[in-house]
Amino acid sequence: MYTQAMDQPDPQGGSLKAVRDAGADALQRGFDDRIDADRKVEPQDWMPEAYRKTLVRQISQHAHSEIIGMQPEGNWISRAPSLKRKAILLAKVQDEGGHGLYLYSAAETLGVSRDALLDALHTGKAKYSSIFNYPTLTWADVGVIGGLVDGAAIMNQVPICRCSYGPYARAMIRICKEESFHQRQGFESLMTLMKGTQAQRDMVQDAVNRWYWPVLAMFGPPDADSPNSAQGMRWGIKRISNDELRQKFVDATVPQARILGVTLPDPDLKWNEERGHHDHGAIDWDDFWAVVNGNGPCNKERLATRVKAHQDGQWVRDAALAHARKQQARALKEAA
Ligand code: 3HC
Repeated sequence: MYTQAMDQPDPQGGSLKAVRDAGADALQRGFDDRIDADRKVEPQDWMPEAYRKTLVRQISQHAHSEIIGMQPEGNWISRAPSLKRKAILLAKVQDEGGHGLYLYSAAETLGVSRDALLDALHTGKAKYSSIFNYPTLTWADVGVIGGLVDGAAIMNQVPICRCSYGPYARAMIRICKEESFHQRQGFESLMTLMKGTQAQRDMVQDAVNRWYWPVLAMFGPPDADSPNSAQGMRWGIKRISNDELRQKFVDATVPQARILGVTLPDPDLKWNEERGHHDHGAIDWDDFWAVVNGNGPCNKERLATRVKAHQDGQWVRDAALAHARKQQARALKEAA
């Protein structure tokens, strides 16, 4: 009798489970309705675990990209060709650090700690944008990062201002305003060089030749090979697909290159009257995945520099915490 009883579902437990299931269904329906109605999901709202995890993945990768992205241009602060260019570059690199902070804060609203996210970056477990693993060999690279890399970043990031998750969408509004300034300063810097000597024009063309293809790959794998796209689009995290954004970028870049007087290094680039878009050549996806998987020209250097900066900054974090503790103790004493 006992063994038989043990094989039977507990009637009370069963009904509890049914109640729990009904509750979970209602929560899921509420979430789906919110997404379908294009209303924002906020940190206190119920959300499926997979949605939360996807956001943590994307927002933290984005945050890591912003802070690693300080390095290629940061290398040129001490070598900027004038005081004006140095001041602009300092402000821009500082903006990127700020973007990282807004994004880590947005990720923290999903219940992850900043320490855990940084640990994943520092131990090489987390991804960050492929584009920041290429070297900045000349001053023209700084202009190209502004003009092309930030141009691509804006194309990808403006739609994220409409992301379904409130804290991410709101962080992106300010980030996009700043990125748009970055793009314009890059274009202006390149324009200045293009109006200079032949050596300066050659330097710009060389930088465009080296950065153009990695920038196209930066939008991510083709839609057909993008495992996260379909669900990301369903959840309103991603609004426009990798390939569509890449196409928009190519279409926007062709006239800008013409105005600058540079040649985009793609012999297959041509206007397609029927599609109303430019056709472009094939991207080297093997190169992209090698870079994403840690084997790009500067991956090791970028990570080592980041880890060292974090370790060197330990005393600042310790001092800030000690100061906060002192303030708190003083406030408690005064209140007593
Ligand atoms: N570099 C590194 N990894 C990349 C990548 C890139 N350029 N593009 C895609 N990947 C990774 C994805 O993260 C994903 O990896 P995971 O599944 O292990 O996490 C894998 O490749 C497959 O790609 P999917 O297309 O399926 O992934 P997503 O749907 O997440 O799309 C994305 C990728 C378009 C980058 C999207 O995550 C996104 O829009 N992110 C927010 C914007 C962002 O992070 N931009 C990075 C640049 S920031 C920047 O440029 C700073 C500025 O100051 C210039």
